[in-house]
Amino acid sequence: MDFRLSEDNLLLEQAAKDFSARAIIPQAHIYDESAEFPKSIFKEAHASGFFNLTIPEKYAGIGLSSLATSLVIERLAYGCSGVTTSIVANDLALTPIVIAGTEEQKEKFVKPICQKGDFASFCLSEPGAGSDVSSLSCKLQKVEGGYLLNGNKQWITNGGYSSQFTVFAKLDTLIDEKNKAEKHKSICCVVVSRSSEGVTIGKSENKLGQRCSNTTTVSFENVFVPNDCLIGKEGEGFYTAMKTLDFTRPMTAAIAVGIASRAFDEAMSYSFQRKQFGQQIFDFQAIQSILADAGTDIDAARLLTLRAATMADNGEKNSLESSMAKRFAADSAMRITTDAVQVFGGYGYTKDYPVEKLMRDAKLMQIYEGTSQVQRIVIAKELQKKFKK
Ligand code: CAA
Repeated sequence: MDFRLSEDNLLLEQAAKDFSARAIIPQAHIYDESAEFPKSIFKEAHASGFFNLTIPEKYAGIGLSSLATSLVIERLAYGCSGVTTSIVANDLALTPIVIAGTEEQKEKFVKPICQKGDFASFCLSEPGAGSDVSSLSCKLQKVEGGYLLNGNKQWITNGGYSSQFTVFAKLDTLIDEKNKAEKHKSICCVVVSRSSEGVTIGKSENKLGQRCSNTTTVSFENVFVPNDCLIGKEGEGFYTAMKTLDFTRPMTAAIAVGIASRAFDEAMSYSFQRKQFGQQIFDFQAIQSILADAGTDIDAARLLTLRAATMADNGEKNSLESSMAKRFAADSAMRITTDAVQVFGGYGYTKDYPVEKLMRDAKLMQIYEGTSQVQRIVIAKELQKKFKK
């Protein structure tokens, strides 16, 4: 075990840090305020090679390892997690096709998106099915040459800007109403073009944090999905979704580490500037205690993240480690950003300083891509399997 990063990864990390400092940080608070989708940043990120990071070069992605991707993402999220969520959402939407699609499907549905710098969205959650994926109600009905898709998806990242949707829905012929335990076995994964007749994008959510990342509903009404848009086999969609989330959760954890380490840096430097009772506030043990815990937890979250990413790179099953990383990094980010506001006192509660944004942004990390409670379910299930072996 070697905790040092390779020369290549150090260079990549520095490049991401520079990009974040130049292209993201100066504009982050402006886009937070306006909740506008920062198209110019995304254009620059695409041109600079900070988009579609995990997608193989063969399909016009950057082809980074999961480890290298986590390093880059942490640096981008240090600048703005809203921007980074929208960037990572493309990997999330395209990964099911990379994992389970045929060669032709990867050429047809992954490559053009990456080449053009387009957005794609992962459509799993629904108004009535968030944590409980297998109870989703979007339906596919078999028809001549393909399927008809009906239903509503919610919390769709980049929904308003995506040209393609990776949709999870239940196939009518596989639904077995009596066998509730196997309800996930009717779920299929399909690719739907935004231009298909019957696709409607709903309003953009006005969110507490990560405000510049676009989040919408997407509705499908009798949308024709040709046979060649089915990814994997019929009934395999749930497994594809879970494998995708195993792969992307380390990246989400890296976003949380980025938010936390920015809050930590801001709080550290403020604690040296701010004087009370005739000394810099860093010299008070109460403040040192906050900062010591933050520094420790950031390192721990980063190490958990890099371990989960390395396992993905080695082709090992990492459900347990991915969920541990996501859970710990998200919960740590929430606490660390709240503590950073505390270190800043009244100033931290205003928009004149960056920490209140970080606190709002951190909250989402405990909710999307599986809540902290869902991560604990996965962790407990996986630990139970290990224990019983
Ligand atoms: N890999 C492969 N197979 C898996 C798996 C994995 N990681 N996890 C479960 N499975 C398999 C199981 O082995 C089981 O197989 P069998 O059919 O052979 O029995 C099957 O899938 C069903 O598994 P469970 O019984 O564990 O399923 P469950 O219904 O109890 O659900 C859950 C488990 C972990 C709670 C799951 O529903 C889940 O992950 N929920 C959270 C969903 C989530 O993260 N949503 C976020 C959406 S994306 C988002 O937020 C993105 C955005 O835009 C920002």
